[in-house]
Amino acid sequence: MARALEGKVAIITGASSGIGAATALAMAKAGIDLVLVARRRDKLEEVAKSVRHFGRKAHVVVGDVSDSSHVAGVLDDAELHFGRFDIVFANAGYGLERPVHLMEDAELRAIFEVNFFSSVALLRESAKRLRTAKRPGHLLMCSSCLSKFSMPDHGAYSASKAAQESICRAMRFELAEDHIEVASVHPITTTTEFFSESSLRSGTQGGSVSDHAPKWFIQSPDRVADAIIACLRRPKSEVWTSHIVRYSCALFTAFPWILDAVLRSQIKQKTRRRAHNLKPTAKVH
Ligand SMILES: NC(=O)c1ccc[n+]([C@@H]2O[C@H](COP(=O)([O-])OP(=O)(O)OC[C@H]3O[C@@H](n4cnc5c(N)ncnc54)[C@H](OP(=O)(O)O)[C@@H]3O)[C@@H](O)[C@H]2O)c1
Repeated sequence: MARALEGKVAIITGASSGIGAATALAMAKAGIDLVLVARRRDKLEEVAKSVRHFGRKAHVVVGDVSDSSHVAGVLDDAELHFGRFDIVFANAGYGLERPVHLMEDAELRAIFEVNFFSSVALLRESAKRLRTAKRPGHLLMCSSCLSKFSMPDHGAYSASKAAQESICRAMRFELAEDHIEVASVHPITTTTEFFSESSLRSGTQGGSVSDHAPKWFIQSPDRVADAIIACLRRPKSEVWTSHIVRYSCALFTAFPWILDAVLRSQIKQKTRRRAHNLKPTAKVH
């Protein structure tokens, strides 16, 4: 039987835009009250306004997830405002386009700090509190389809997403007896601020989604949000939003040479695109 969501309380990090904001609205429509976390207050307040528009409560917590004091503060805030929390979605994250050999150690550690360590810290502390209170719960982490196959120039990002998936699998079994569900979420290319933000950080040109993927590999954040709601109603271990990509990943695992061939062809296309972009344009007199 599908689980009822009405009246539950959820915490979402990275709720100021993209997948986090879309999930907050989908949850509000499903009857869930929300604690919205990110660094940009104005964006969070906009999302909170939309949540309230659906008749649900919203509480905004501004902060950086990589700040070690942040986790306890967010959970304390949720308990203070709502008396408890039932669902936690560790979604805050970012991408970086850089070959591994050109990365600074600090860059590598920073991306793991936000994408991996802060997500684990949040879910770990949430699990501790749920267990102490003997309450069931649902914990989710926003990984990526890239958890299954690493991409050139996105090695650090892919590694952080693979680490998320890996730790979610262990936690799922560790917490099963306590009736705490754990799921990893694996979106494909999603139309959010992710690519412009990543370009800005990386100092690269490809700032739009269409620079990164063919049309069939692009989805809206609402698509991810709907899949998350479906998982909350009927728990599953991994949330996927594309069957084609999911089955391709299985193929890549069984036959890694197929993935190598795909990546080689992508690198060629990228090199051609770069050469084309660099070509001096003809002078117009
Ligand atoms: N877009 C895609 O194609 C795609 C595909 C697969 C997986 N994902 C994953 O989906 C998740 C959400 O990304 P998105 O696509 O929705 O991109 P987005 O629109 O850029 O959202 C990222 C969110 O994370 C927050 N954030 C980033 N660093 C933070 C920090 N240090 N502290 C607190 N909040 C922080 C941002 O808020 P503030 O800037 O306000 O802090 C923002 O709300 C990420 O984990 C990403 O890896 C995205």
